Amino acid sequence: MTSAPASRPRVLVTRAIFPEVIDQLAEHVDVEANPDDQLWSRDELIRRAQGKQGLLTTGGERVDAALLAACPDLRICANMAVGYNNFDVPAMTAAGVLATNAPGVLTDTTADFGFALMMAAARRVTESEHWLRAGQWDRWRYDLFAGSDIHGTTLGIIGMGRIGQGIARRGTHGFGMQVIYHNRSRLPAEDEAAVGATYVSKQALLQSADHVVLVVPYTPESHHTIGAAELALMKPTATLTNIARGGIVDDVALARALSEGRIAAAGLDVFEGEPKVHPDLLACRNVVLTPHIASASVPTRLAMARLAADNLAGFLTTGQPLTPINPEVLGKG
Ligand code: GLV
Repeated sequence: MTSAPASRPRVLVTRAIFPEVIDQLAEHVDVEANPDDQLWSRDELIRRAQGKQGLLTTGGERVDAALLAACPDLRICANMAVGYNNFDVPAMTAAGVLATNAPGVLTDTTADFGFALMMAAARRVTESEHWLRAGQWDRWRYDLFAGSDIHGTTLGIIGMGRIGQGIARRGTHGFGMQVIYHNRSRLPAEDEAAVGATYVSKQALLQSADHVVLVVPYTPESHHTIGAAELALMKPTATLTNIARGGIVDDVALARALSEGRIAAAGLDVFEGEPKVHPDLLACRNVVLTPHIASASVPTRLAMARLAADNLAGFLTTGQPLTPINPEVLGKG
């Protein structure tokens, strides 16, 4: 008597991703993909996740106790993002479901973009382009869109993980900036020396930085890290750049500070309630707005998708994920 072939694990890929990564995944597991990038309702997502052992999520899908209870076959959720505030990790751990994210592969691309946004805000790139496209350029002027410098100024970084350190390196070694940072925990002295950054309090950072960049994960503690009180501490010539998550900045308070000239300019890649953007921000000229694309170079997005797929396939076929968030789940069950 021959035994029936073991059935392959089933996974759901919740959003459209690179077809070659779906093909790679399909070599190891049975895949239900979403090539048309339908935006499923939560009920539809749960319905499709039922009977699957793995989910490949992209950062916007909430995985919480209710979803886990409705999907008892689930063993892993692999996020194609370094941030994982869409995961209720304690609930996943309690349910014995592994969570993975995509750290490392996007560090330099995202740090590059932080600089791009900061420089665009400081040098008024998009504001001046809109004005030019509107046909308003008729002469040279000594103060036409004069902004603030990047080189030689003070860069304040809030959050000093991999991406924060990438921004610090660029500031120190690329632009001769004085780099100060604030973080929940201070870096070891050799890491501070390598990136040329000095630890200061949040208040000192806000008061002395010419350019503030936010790279903290979104948690209940980091909600509104920057609100009206913090904006009031900043220099009127300063810029604020957020490449972390919406909700870390109070968008209404920021729009007010920008329109009143409390700070000079901002660069925002992430928003409270995105993809909606608060109308008060849309009305501000002195803010550069981009649609959550800090990691979006083609090679980096491909590397993120491959890492998520490798986490899924690795865990479901050999029990070996690459970048677990809750490794305590491994080896159980
Ligand atoms: C993008 O926002 C990410 O967390 O990777």
